[in-house]
Amino acid sequence: MASSYAELIQLANAYSESQTVLTANELGVFTAIGKGAKTAPRIARDLRLDPEGTRLLLDALVGLDLLTLSGGRYRNAPITKKYLDGRSPQAITNLLWLLGHHWHDWSNLRHALRKGRPGWGQTTDSREFRRRFSMAMHERSHALAAPTVATMRLPSGARRFLDLGGGPGSYAIALAKRYPRLDGVVMDRTVSVTRRLIQHARLEKRLKARAGDIFKDDLGSGYDAVVVSNVIHVFNEKENERLLKRVRAALNPGGRIFIVEFFLDRSRTKPPKSAVFSVMMYLFTATGRCYSWEETEAWLKALRFGQFRRHTITPDIGTLEATRL
Ligand SMILES: C[S@@+](CC[C@H](N)C(=O)[O-])C[C@H]1O[C@@H](n2cnc3c(N)ncnc32)[C@H](O)[C@@H]1O
Repeated sequence: MASSYAELIQLANAYSESQTVLTANELGVFTAIGKGAKTAPRIARDLRLDPEGTRLLLDALVGLDLLTLSGGRYRNAPITKKYLDGRSPQAITNLLWLLGHHWHDWSNLRHALRKGRPGWGQTTDSREFRRRFSMAMHERSHALAAPTVATMRLPSGARRFLDLGGGPGSYAIALAKRYPRLDGVVMDRTVSVTRRLIQHARLEKRLKARAGDIFKDDLGSGYDAVVVSNVIHVFNEKENERLLKRVRAALNPGGRIFIVEFFLDRSRTKPPKSAVFSVMMYLFTATGRCYSWEETEAWLKALRFGQFRRHTITPDIGTLEATRL
């Protein structure tokens, strides 16, 4: 990722561009501009910001091609109109909020490396954090859910599935749309956003959101498929072995598990984004990290899963499919 002096400096300094965008998002700059054209003093007034700093920020956003400037008025570029105006149906403003939250986790890295994992931050337990986190997960899946479920080959005649730790239910909704005869359960600690999204997709008759603890509460049984998306990186090896054992018990013989993850290769150093994401899970979660395809397959083999198939969705995200033998 950095083989020249310029690339090394770019890598080390990437946070300044990142903070410019995240701060503008968090202050609502792109939403305040919306579809209109506004001067810097007007934007500063609307958002109650320091006029001098606001103009500098706006000019930097123009420099980054996120805004345009003409006749002293700032407009959203097509990309920010689509993704960072909070009124857009494709807005990812909560996802950027979460990236901004992770900035605080990253600031802890030096301390953590000296003193050990910080564990879950206090704020992560609040209702509001969970709601926004769930929205962020859904926004993250806008572009990912459809291509991910397109790789999922369900057993023939499959009727029921479980989306374990399904969060907002984005994968369950995409799967239900792809397989019109399939019913599903989304189980998560927090399901208020999930219920709203299921309703919005008009899938209430086929998808149920169940609030519960995936380690302690009844998962149900007789499923033909279980989706475990972005869940195993939250937990350590022992916890994942326990969780996958519960998945096995909930599946019908011949049923399939689909694990969607930031998988690492055998060396656990590549793809680089997954290796870096793993460091963030060390900071953000109590026990999690990223795992290699091989580590994950080994847990499943020990539980008598077979017929493994790996699918790559993006350079760092993939799906591991396995069948309960
Ligand atoms: C990173 S999110 C992934 C959400 C979703 N599967 C996706 O891919 O967008 C992890 C999810 O696991 C849920 N979770 C973590 N521990 C849990 C537990 N013990 N019981 C129920 N849900 C849990 C969280 O609430 C969160 O929604």
